[in-house]
Amino acid sequence: MYKLPGNAGVSVFGDNSLKFYRDPVSFCQQRIEKHRSRVFQCRMLNRPTAFICSVQGMRELLCEKSNLFLKDPNDLMTNMYGDTVVTTNGEEACLLRLSLTSLFTGGCLGSSSDYITSVCERCLKDLSLSGQPECVYSAFKRLGTELVLGLFLNIRAEEQPDLFQEIMQLCTQHWHGLISAPVNLKVPLWSSGFSTALDARDKLMVIIKDKLENDTQGFVGSLGSLPLPDSTSASQHLLLFISALIPKALASLLTSFTLALSGNKQARLRAMEDPDYLRTVLLEVQRLWPPFIGGRRIADQDTTIAGFPVPKDYGAIYISHSVHRDPEVFQQPDNFLPERWSGRNAGQEHFLCSFGNGPRSCIGTKLTDVFLKEACMYLIKHYNWCLDPPSQDLEYKWLPVSRPANPPTISFTRLDLTRSDRSDTN
Ligand code: HEM
Repeated sequence: MYKLPGNAGVSVFGDNSLKFYRDPVSFCQQRIEKHRSRVFQCRMLNRPTAFICSVQGMRELLCEKSNLFLKDPNDLMTNMYGDTVVTTNGEEACLLRLSLTSLFTGGCLGSSSDYITSVCERCLKDLSLSGQPECVYSAFKRLGTELVLGLFLNIRAEEQPDLFQEIMQLCTQHWHGLISAPVNLKVPLWSSGFSTALDARDKLMVIIKDKLENDTQGFVGSLGSLPLPDSTSASQHLLLFISALIPKALASLLTSFTLALSGNKQARLRAMEDPDYLRTVLLEVQRLWPPFIGGRRIADQDTTIAGFPVPKDYGAIYISHSVHRDPEVFQQPDNFLPERWSGRNAGQEHFLCSFGNGPRSCIGTKLTDVFLKEACMYLIKHYNWCLDPPSQDLEYKWLPVSRPANPPTISFTRLDLTRSDRSDTN
């Protein structure tokens, strides 16, 4: 058997984490070309790590061999969110998923749909009002925040603006801790981002616990009555669900959607009239611009990926950006071609990993799908839009969440759906 291409490097000095964080996409592209392989190794987080950039490798890691590659219980996520389903393994993870999934499917999901419709309308109805170009990422992040705080905590921006604002600020501080160094350093008049984040987390927990004790309605009410492993589990999970992570991921996808269809009135009209075309557009948006760069596991025993040996205790990282551009599966991988999903790649949605894959895939996928369709349909039914100014630097950054490094600005003009609008295809 051939060894994994690349080099596991020496401890500390051979570590590539900083290089990877600076530009993960070029980092992987250069190594794919150098090793002529979409699976290779290098040292990440000071651990020899297999990088998985092929569809076949990703499926092996997340599906066929998911029982051999485990979540890292010492992940930074545990530091910030406590014990949640995200970093647990084995039976505990299965039971948690079983309980939590019930909140994101069937009747529970159905009962969210009126709120999803109303929040999209409230946050998107004024995009053309100022007559100025909109910074779309910020507008969509606000929409995502209204969605999660309304759905998961029953806190509506229009009913409790001060509390809403306070939670939004705390979530931002908490988030900045996740992406700053985990140094809990506090001196008078100065505190590191991480320690500010821990303070923010404590304040959020007080609000969350109060809600769990006193609110019997909606998601928070259902979560409070679920069978969960211990008394802190419900609050830890609520902290995760309302965190800035989800609004940012939603804003990332909505931003990429508006950019992909900006100035393309024909595609917008087609998406408005044909829900299946809108579905293929959204698949192509998540293929090319997945919000998260990927996910990480640790090998629990000696095994293989794509025929290469992966020893026990190796890390394994799947890179969604590279998996989604694997030319073995996606022809013309860098081109935006929604029609591939009704042609050559029809029925191959399981080759994507924007929402993970296999038994540990995202439990919020259906909710996200309902929300994105509602928000995108609102946009295409009510607006024409184009980049303003027409020429902008749209180069993406991929961490912590994918989006153009320079926030793009877009001008929206309200549509009234007359016949002349429908036939005009500028
Ligand atoms: C655009 C929106 C979202 C994206 C792109 C996204 C992406 C992902 C990805 C990539 C994973 C797998 C991580 C891994 O393999 O290590 C994941 C897992 C997860 N997601 Fe999401 N997610 C989104 C929305 C949501 C929502 C709305 C919720 C719930 C409120 C949610 C809850 C979770 C949970 C609990 C897991 C962990 C599942 C497990 O480990 O068993 N996500 N998500």
